[in-house]
Formats: sequence, C-alpha cells, structure tokens
Amino acid sequence: MTVTGGAVTKRAVLAQVLICSGCCCGKTEKGKPPVPVDWLKARWKELGLKKRVQLTISGCLGPCDLVNVVCVMTQQGPVWLGGLTDFDHYAAIADWASAVMERGALLPLPEELMRFAFERFDVGAGAGLYTALPIN
Ligand code: FES
Repeated sequence: MTVTGGAVTKRAVLAQVLICSGCCCGKTEKGKPPVPVDWLKARWKELGLKKRVQLTISGCLGPCDLVNVVCVMTQQGPVWLGGLTDFDHYAAIADWASAVMERGALLPLPEELMRFAFERFDVGAGAGLYTALPIN
C-alpha cells in the first residue's frame, strides 16, 4: 500500500534496501554472522545502483531474534528477510539490485532470498490504519 500526499521527490527509486547493522545484526562479537557493510557500499558504488536502488545501512530494525535482517521496500510493499547467514545472501541482494537497474523495472527477489522472508507486522491489528489517520 502506498500513501501519498503532495510531496514529490526528485530521487524516486525502484527499490530501497535496508541492511540492518544494529545492536545484533552483524555483531560478530556477540556470535552473530557478519554483515558485509563495506562490501555492500563498494558494490553499490561500483555498479552505480544508487539512482535506481537505494542502499541504506540501518540501525536496529526491530526483529533482532531473526538476525541478520534486511528489508527490501518497493512500491509493492516491504519484503522482510531474516536469518541471513552467508556472504552469498548479501551478494544475491546486490545481484538482484543490479538486475533491477539494468532492466529499469522491478524483478521478483530470487527464491534463494525469499526463503528467508517473514511477516513483520501484526496484520490483524493494523487493518484500516491508513484510512483512520488524517493525512495532514
Ligand atoms: S539489530 Fe537487526 S533487527 Fe535488531
């Protein structure tokens, strides 16, 4: 679901990838799998992905019990991924972003990533939220 008011950005993208690097995700000193933050930043720059797929390294996204967490946001809504353990998982995200940029349109996330998808929101309790809130 997309809610829009009157604001317009010149930086509209096809997708935004939030990589959690908060209190737990990537914290190897706590026994968690690493998050290749520097590699991701370099890869995004190398492939020139920023204008089409925004990379955001984030603080804690909330569901720390599923480290490592990633949220891929598109006009179709968020896809939350949890439990990423391998470098290859992050490489697959970069490969997907590169394919999206080259095509100039969204592509489904690969199955190798979708097996980590989870439901982040309590959908029953959130029903009707956007229609209940005033837009101003
Ligand atoms: S630190 Fe990643 S979800 Fe909390």
